[in-house]
Amino acid sequence: MGAHSQALGGAARSSANVWLGRRLPWLKAALFLVCLLPLARAAWLLAAGEPTNPIEFITRSTGTWTLVMLLATLAVSPLRRATGWGQLLRLRRLLGLFAFFYASLHFTTYFWLDQFFDWAAIARDIVKRPFVTLGFAAFCLMLPLALTSTDAAMRRLKRRWGQLHALVYPLAVLAVLHYAWLVKKDLSQPLAYGAVLFVLLAERALRRWLASRRA
Ligand code: HEM
Repeated sequence: MGAHSQALGGAARSSANVWLGRRLPWLKAALFLVCLLPLARAAWLLAAGEPTNPIEFITRSTGTWTLVMLLATLAVSPLRRATGWGQLLRLRRLLGLFAFFYASLHFTTYFWLDQFFDWAAIARDIVKRPFVTLGFAAFCLMLPLALTSTDAAMRRLKRRWGQLHALVYPLAVLAVLHYAWLVKKDLSQPLAYGAVLFVLLAERALRRWLASRRA
């Protein structure tokens, strides 16, 4: 690429960045509403009495949306690098917190509607059924990330914030394994999520490897 077209590309990127920066409050509000759509849809279907097994329906839909939000959160950085739109990073926290929100609904459905606060049975289930162990481990890893998602925590933890938030990688792997383990016959869905996660992790690994070779 010539210096002229590179400069043009840079100018287009920075004007897109300025455009995004100015509209950030609106973009955030729009993304917030979009992230609430799955919940609205689930509430609508439940109110209409569509699902034959409402508890299973809520567990499955909240589990699915936790995974989708988690992968969307992980997709922000590569997208930012590919487009040069630094402002995208400001939307990442919103997506991450929505992943936690849907995970909390998912876990609450399990211990409230499914197990009815029978903590002894829940503890047994976590120990005995590997897919529940994996889901619970993923949820435990999410807690410190959600608790340190504020600007104040970011400032206080400095470099350690990045190290702590690298927990999102093992957490995403556990989440996909949780799904793959619970599926009995058709593995196509968990495999599709696994493939997306693989691409997102491979991109990071490749970038680090290239950077270490350059250093
Ligand atoms: C980051 C955390 C988690 C993620 C991403 C996640 C994701 C999922 C997904 C994608 C499903 C399947 C949805 C479908 O069948 O379409 C699912 C189902 C389920 N999850 Fe999770 N989950 C998480 C945490 C947990 C936790 C903490 C528990 C309980 C301790 C749990 C218990 C269950 C149960 C009981 C099912 C339904 C199994 C069935 O239908 O037979 N999950 N989860």
